[in-house]
Amino acid sequence: MFETLTMAPADPIIGLTEAFKNDPNPNKINLGVGVYKDGDGNTPIFASVKTAEERLLAHEDTKNYLGIEGDEAYNKAVQELLWGTDHEILTSGRAGTAQAPGGTGALRIAGDFIHQHFPNARVWLSDPTWANHPKIFESASVPTETYRYYNPSSYGLDIDALIQDLGQIPAGDVVLLHGCCHNPTGVDPSAEQWAQIADIITDRGIIPLVDFAYQGLGNGLAEDAVGLQSLSRPGCELLVASSFSKNFGLYRERTGALTLVGKNATTVEKAMSHIKICIRTNYSNPPSHGAQAVATVLNDPDLRAQWDGEVKAMRDRINTMRTLFVDTLETKGVRRDFSFIAHQRGMFSFSGLTPEQVDILRERYSIYIVSSGRINVAGMTKDNIGPLCEAIAEVLGDK
Ligand code: LMR
Repeated sequence: MFETLTMAPADPIIGLTEAFKNDPNPNKINLGVGVYKDGDGNTPIFASVKTAEERLLAHEDTKNYLGIEGDEAYNKAVQELLWGTDHEILTSGRAGTAQAPGGTGALRIAGDFIHQHFPNARVWLSDPTWANHPKIFESASVPTETYRYYNPSSYGLDIDALIQDLGQIPAGDVVLLHGCCHNPTGVDPSAEQWAQIADIITDRGIIPLVDFAYQGLGNGLAEDAVGLQSLSRPGCELLVASSFSKNFGLYRERTGALTLVGKNATTVEKAMSHIKICIRTNYSNPPSHGAQAVATVLNDPDLRAQWDGEVKAMRDRINTMRTLFVDTLETKGVRRDFSFIAHQRGMFSFSGLTPEQVDILRERYSIYIVSSGRINVAGMTKDNIGPLCEAIAEVLGDK
């Protein structure tokens, strides 16, 4: 049977990491996958997470299964990180959370849930979006459509086109929105634009699915939730896929959650009973370790304060690299205006480099960038920024 198979294409993001690992060039630079690097080019374990893990190792007394929805203390901490403790959604008990294996796991549960219970619903994705989004929903047999989002001429949000397209989406369809730090563009709506988006979503009866994978990496933990706050209106329904890969550095521990908000606690209880079936028939129940580390950090005031500081340090470094990148490109003689990169937020920016230029950067200089031109600013360091900008200047014909 297996003889009939041909090679599948490599994943556009993770496949690049595989090629990077096999590249023998000692000066290679990886700006592909969204992984944070510190100033020395390492991806260390957060000090707050390390302490939490030490506590877990000392006190964990069983490896018995978790429940299908995972750990209650973790799920509560996830909700409080999204909304704060006093939000009406929490006080009225109209949110249910299931611990999930990463943000991808959460999105897939959402896809299965939509397919099984709302078979006519489509999921609308921003153009562009994370390369894995359409494939996750395709695997769950949920049809996808796109809405306009990014304006390549201004390197910014095309708010008029976005509002126009949201205005065409029928009630009962799902619109996937990036909570903050849009992947791949680094372009987020302002607070006022979020309010406009929330108005049209409410008016039309569309269900928002917020992919929240970078909370804290844009403008701050609370500041990055401004869009979610806008969408969280009385009586609203929504889904949130949380990921702690980036803001806790727990990539390989697959730590995330799916949260469903319904009109009241009874509706949520019923909906969560179906989500439990999606989970049970997929991976049965979630892995424990990463979520236990997150719950330990978030529920301990000292560790929480330490973690806040660690997230701030990441955010500050990324924003410093954005400015340094723009300045160094100019110093190296690049004529094109890249100043937009300094105003964008999160790990990513759309550089405007073409697939051909991306290929040359990889083949000639061992610089790895996603073929769409998406660059991971968090992969830049003071050591690699000079050679990186020099190579870009050469590829752009400015040297
Ligand atoms: C990315 O976009 O690079 C990250 O979200 C990692 C991934 O799984 O693709």
